Amino acid sequence: MAWGLSDRVKNIAPSPTLSIDAKTKQMIADGVDVVNLSVGEPDFGTPDVACSAGKVAIDEQFTKYTAVPGIVELRKKIAAFLKDHAGLDYTADDILVSSGAKHSLYNAFMALCNPGDEVILPAPYWVSYPEMIRLAQAEPVVIQTDESTGFKITPEQLERAVTPKTKVLLLNSPSNPTGAVYTKAELQALAEVIKKHQFYVISDEIYDQLVYDVEQVSIASFGEELKQRTLLINGFSKAYSMTGWRVGYMAGERSLIKAMTSFQSHTTANPASISQRAALAALDHRDETMVPEFRWRRDYVLERIRKMPHLTCDTPSGAFYVFPNCSATYGKSYREHAIKDSDDFASLLLEQAKIALVPGSSFSAPNNFRISYATSRENLAKAMDRLEAFLNEVK
Ligand SMILES: Cc1ncc(COP(=O)(O)O)c(C=O)c1O
Repeated sequence: MAWGLSDRVKNIAPSPTLSIDAKTKQMIADGVDVVNLSVGEPDFGTPDVACSAGKVAIDEQFTKYTAVPGIVELRKKIAAFLKDHAGLDYTADDILVSSGAKHSLYNAFMALCNPGDEVILPAPYWVSYPEMIRLAQAEPVVIQTDESTGFKITPEQLERAVTPKTKVLLLNSPSNPTGAVYTKAELQALAEVIKKHQFYVISDEIYDQLVYDVEQVSIASFGEELKQRTLLINGFSKAYSMTGWRVGYMAGERSLIKAMTSFQSHTTANPASISQRAALAALDHRDETMVPEFRWRRDYVLERIRKMPHLTCDTPSGAFYVFPNCSATYGKSYREHAIKDSDDFASLLLEQAKIALVPGSSFSAPNNFRISYATSRENLAKAMDRLEAFLNEVK
């Protein structure tokens, strides 16, 4: 008798960031005073206009199925946003709205990949990419990067990773977890390799509006060929603090969007009608205080970390993460506890110093750990005091 879970599901690793968050929330519920620097969501509220639009949608009974790719008003407005923000020409028919950017990414991998296709994945990477690639029965081909290239891949590395099976390059700029942002010149150089070997790009630009003193450029902006080859992913979770509303989108070549709309029609159909109305309202009303506040917090954390023993840290240009290198603690101990890798480092910080953060091992970055500064200044100060006290005892 056939019994048990599919291999597909058995082989999935649960999201390490969500597990750390769940463990931390449990400790907090048990009365432990933990400072949580592990979360990947802004501590800002959803803009009032978006909340009001959601309430109006309910009052107006806008609570039924909508068009599968999302209401046309929202898709038109997303197209206008992409024109204003990135200079890209899309129409409503080139946009597919989904239940969060995660869903858009899953649609993209499922639509583009056949079994055995290779997806080039720069590391450190966001935890869900390799799992999604495998769910689509494709193979992640990891290009490892570190501080020496600012956690960015070079055209030479990309060229070396290409094989006849290469189907897609995954790009994530600004990056989770490193905060690295590719410059225009760096993207231009990668664009030449993509054009030479003719593969697709899934460009996850969910942190596009969270950049500090640098320009955010989309790989889709390097001419018509690149635009045709790019599926641009974005959403409302980060820049509009709408993580729970679940609205993300993809912009791309019309025939691909049409195919993915059919795929979505059989899996989840439209994203929540109420959330779509809220997203429509949000697009006009970004919280202008968010970027300066995040910049302040980033600078504060960097300044504190750079005075601490055993750590080094690059300046990230985007997102809301810093990614210090803690490898100088490996082989040392905190009190009686040996530290041999980033997992030990993060576990000890949680258990002994009561700070929750994510070990680099989760992102294929064994020498680093991720701090999310999407939390209050007060929490950050408390966490930095605790981190410093902890590191002073690492011998
Ligand atoms: C790089 C990256 N892409 C996509 C997502 C998913 O965003 P959403 O909440 O829209 O599904 C996240 C969320 O943490 C992320 O960090």
